[in-house]
Amino acid sequence: MIKKSCENFVFSYAPGKAILVGEHAVVYGAQAIAVPLDLGVRVAILPLDANGPIIKGIGSFCPSEALVWSIEQGPANIKLALQYLIENFGEKIKKIAILVDGSLPKGFGLGSSAAFSVALMRAIFNYFSISINNQMLIEHISALETIFHGAPSGIDHTVVLNSQVLGFKKKKSQSLSWPIYCKRPLKLVVGLVGPHEGTKNAVQKLRDRKRQHEKIYERIFGSLDELAIAMETSLKEGSLGAVGEFMNMAHGYLSALGVSTGELDHLCAIAKERGALGAKLTGAGGGGAVIALAENNEMEIMTAFRACGFISFTTSVVNKVDEHL
Ligand code: PMV
Repeated sequence: MIKKSCENFVFSYAPGKAILVGEHAVVYGAQAIAVPLDLGVRVAILPLDANGPIIKGIGSFCPSEALVWSIEQGPANIKLALQYLIENFGEKIKKIAILVDGSLPKGFGLGSSAAFSVALMRAIFNYFSISINNQMLIEHISALETIFHGAPSGIDHTVVLNSQVLGFKKKKSQSLSWPIYCKRPLKLVVGLVGPHEGTKNAVQKLRDRKRQHEKIYERIFGSLDELAIAMETSLKEGSLGAVGEFMNMAHGYLSALGVSTGELDHLCAIAKERGALGAKLTGAGGGGAVIALAENNEMEIMTAFRACGFISFTTSVVNKVDEHL
C-alpha cells in the first residue's frame, strides 16, 4: 500500500523531444538536431509499506486505471528497469512507489522513455538525498535507455537532460553535443499515426538493409549529415523557410531508408498542402509521429490532420535563445 500520510515524497519533470534532422543517420556518425518540447513526463516517488518497487501509470501513461507494474508483473523492460534500480540502489528501492503521469503520448518517438528515465533518476536522487553527480546521473539514464531501446545513440536522453536545442554527433562510443540558439521560436504540429514498431527493431532492420548496400546507405547518411549542418545555420539565422525545406528533404531521405510508412507520407503531404513550412517523421519511424513546422497556421494544419482521423496537437520548442541574446 502507498502510505497515505507521506511527508517524504518528491516530484520531478522532464520534457519530451523531437528530432528535426538526423534520426538513424546519427547511429552511423552523422550530425543530428534535436529539440525539447513543452510536453513531458512527471514522476512522483512516495513511500510504500508493501514490498516494491511498484510503478503506477496515470493519464497518458496508463492504458488501464488498475495498472500497477512490479518486478513480478509488467512488460519485460519495466521489470528489468526495476531490477536495475534494486541492484544499483539497494534494498531501499523496494520501499518506493513510482507514479508516472504526463502530457506526452508514450511510444510515438517523442522521447517518452528518455523523459521517464531522466525524471525517474532525478526523483530517486532527490528522494534518497543523494547529491546529484552529473556523470553518475548520465550513466544510470543511459543504462535505463539501453534497457528500453537496445543500443541508443544517446541523442534522446541528452536533449531531454539538457532541455535545450542541441546538435549531436556520435563518434564510436563518444558523443558530442552542443547548444543551438534558435533566433526564432519554433511551433510544431504533431500528428500521431500509431505507436511505432520500437526503436531497437527499426534500428536493427535498417542495419540489416544497410549490410546489403553499404555504399548507397552511407551516401544517404552523408547527405543527412550535410542537411543537419545546413539546418543548424538556418536555425541560428532564423530562416524558418529553409529549416522547413530541410525537414522535407530529411523526410525524403528517411523514406529512402525505408523507415517511413504510407500514413506518415500522407500526413506530410497534408501538412504541406496546408502551408506548413516543412514536415517529416520524427524518431524511429515505422509508425509514430509526424512533425510539421508551422508559421501562424498551426490550427489549420492540426484541423486538417484531425479531419483525416489522426490525433493531433500543437507544441512549442523549448528554446533558451533569450538567455543568450
Ligand atoms: O526512440 P526514437 O523513436 O526517438 O528514435 C531515436 C532516434 C534513432 O536515431 C532512430 C535511434 C537512436 O538511438 O539514435
